[in-house]
Amino acid sequence: MARPTASLPELLLAHRPGHALEQPFYTDPAIYETDLETIWYREWLYAFPACMLEKTGAYQRLKIGVYDVIVVRDAKGKISAFHNSCRHRGSIICSASKGRVAKLTCPYHQWTYDLDGKLIWARDMGPDFDATQHGLKPVHCEIASGLVFICLAEDAPDFDAFSATVSPYLGVHDLSDAKVAHQSTIIEKGNWKLVWENNRECYHCAGNHPDLCRTYPEDPSITGVSADGTFPEKVETHFNRLEAAGAPSRFKMDEDGQFRVARMPLLDGAESYTLTGKIAVQKPLGKIPFKDAGTLLMFHYPTTWNHFLSDHSITFRVTPIGPQETEVQTTWLVHKDAVEGVDYNLEDLTVVWEHTNDEDRRVVEDNQQGINSPAFVPGPYSPTHEDGVLQFVGWYLDRMRKAHVPGALAAE
Ligand code: FES
Ligand SMILES: [Fe+2]
Repeated sequence: MARPTASLPELLLAHRPGHALEQPFYTDPAIYETDLETIWYREWLYAFPACMLEKTGAYQRLKIGVYDVIVVRDAKGKISAFHNSCRHRGSIICSASKGRVAKLTCPYHQWTYDLDGKLIWARDMGPDFDATQHGLKPVHCEIASGLVFICLAEDAPDFDAFSATVSPYLGVHDLSDAKVAHQSTIIEKGNWKLVWENNRECYHCAGNHPDLCRTYPEDPSITGVSADGTFPEKVETHFNRLEAAGAPSRFKMDEDGQFRVARMPLLDGAESYTLTGKIAVQKPLGKIPFKDAGTLLMFHYPTTWNHFLSDHSITFRVTPIGPQETEVQTTWLVHKDAVEGVDYNLEDLTVVWEHTNDEDRRVVEDNQQGINSPAFVPGPYSPTHEDGVLQFVGWYLDRMRKAHVPGALAAE
């Protein structure tokens, strides 16, 4: 017999502090749609590194839920985003996932838009037709230190606080001098929140990530932050050393917990995410004067976590595909003048995170399958190791309660 179903506000209020979410948050198509509307269609979303649109007319297409977006660089060098829907009868304009065009021409009746979205040609529309009223509909688009973000909301939330906070941290990594060395796109058969919950803890690392554990400390006081907000002396020493060398490093999180930056040490002697622990790229991306600079961890909910190292950078983008399906795109960035086979070997550069991503995909999919059982009861998070998961779930519940529980205050 099916269990009686609680309403979303009831489920949001019934959440047991310190525990995983109730099953419907990971399985229910209606809650998935509500996640899209409450979070994905309102928040700033990471798209890709700006260096992917190096030339005029280069574009990338993004799909988020029901939205279809083109992000394009215009002749003045500006990157803008538009809804991929023609202002005539609505056809998509770009059908490829990326490309380079002189103009944006609709394939249906060839209405033609300039790269800044202006309608510049529409055949036989009569004397009263006003082309200025039929430009492509813009999508909010901002660049933070070489990373492109978009927002689908009519009124976008503030972006400046995030941009101002992360710029000094990211500035030393010179992402404007980057090129993409490799990109992988995988589908994880799990709800997007499970992908995040898995990312925000390393409780699972020792048992699942043999390659990553050669360089990445699973100690939560090193890679996260301890419950009282303090760091061990080793981490303080690391912050001081890097900051003295001009690389901002101290842990910073915004007030509502949507984003965080912190440059954390890797294991002793480790320089980068390789099997040997040595740097992967001889021509470094960025200007940190030490190889063992650790990793600058930056996350921004709901789309991105990142690792910026002394020699290269790795960005991750999360996109929900369905209630139990999430895309994770990983982009390896190296200096634009670094030559494959000379300055780096692609296998050495990518192997650790290719393996780690696949291992994470497996644990997320196993997690989803177990949650799908009617026997699933949300269990407790480890206060030592899963503090980051508690933080993520707290942020999620806070956003959802504010939108769907009348008079609700912040989450626990
Ligand atoms: S739908 Fe685009 S030109 Fe007609
Ligand atoms: Fe993992």
